[in-house]
Amino acid sequence: MIELIQKVVDKLLKVKSVVVFTGAGVSAESGVPTFRDKDGLWQKLKPEELANFNAFLRNPDLVTEWYSHRRKIMHEVQPNPAHYAIAELEKYFERFTVVTQNIDNLHRRAGSKKIFELHGNIERNYCIQCKKFYDLGDNYPDKAIYCECGGLIRPDVVWFGEMLPEDEYEGAVNAAKTCDICFSVGTSAVVFPAAYIPIYAKQNGAFLVEINPNQTDLSKMADLVIQGKAGEVLPKIVDEFKKRKKEI
Ligand code: OAD
Repeated sequence: MIELIQKVVDKLLKVKSVVVFTGAGVSAESGVPTFRDKDGLWQKLKPEELANFNAFLRNPDLVTEWYSHRRKIMHEVQPNPAHYAIAELEKYFERFTVVTQNIDNLHRRAGSKKIFELHGNIERNYCIQCKKFYDLGDNYPDKAIYCECGGLIRPDVVWFGEMLPEDEYEGAVNAAKTCDICFSVGTSAVVFPAAYIPIYAKQNGAFLVEINPNQTDLSKMADLVIQGKAGEVLPKIVDEFKKRKKEI
């Protein structure tokens, strides 16, 4: 693995613009379940009953309870060495962008500054009628909750069949198309349009690095694949980068 890390660091020392595209795997070592792994959420639960708007209208109690349960888990866990390594690397680059599919807020908690959240953020909630935002803090309702206007309050996350937040997606696409190196970390890269991000980066000349213990649809497109856990690989890359940077 050390040779691969050296190669990534050789590249990093030469570039100005970095994109880190992340998925559920980057939070796995914090204890947040992924979706498609052996014990992933979508192996046990049906997204069509929990993660789409019609399901929410049909059964708002169930969907609200499920998101409360997930938000509680996300509050109880901590960012892991992968999140911290990404936040640390940002300090060394003029242009450094995290593009995440995760809704768990862990990149921000680890100190990353420039983040595009393609699938929303579980910390935000809003009324589907008047669009007023609500911060539920440490309240974890097990039933539907309603706005003062009478509208249902939903989490500000992207459900199946919904559009991605326009500004976040546009910002992410721009960053991808203009970066010199793109890391795809902890994602199966099968959910589009989010999964276009590393593809756009590669198509526009960026060096594409994948970090994942398993093969994905993106692996064959990547210039370099490091098979390993994000929380183990990323800190090694950052340590080596900082060491070599000092030597220059
Ligand atoms: P997946 O569950 O599809 O993929 C998780 C990936 O993380 C897999 O490729 C694993 O091999 C990898 N992985 C597991 N542990 C890891 C570790 N310690 N380090 C690095 N990688 C690890 O999750 P996503 O690709 O994020 O969308 O899924 C994309 C979207 O599908 C999610 O944002 C969500 C889901 O439906 C919405 O809810 C809209």
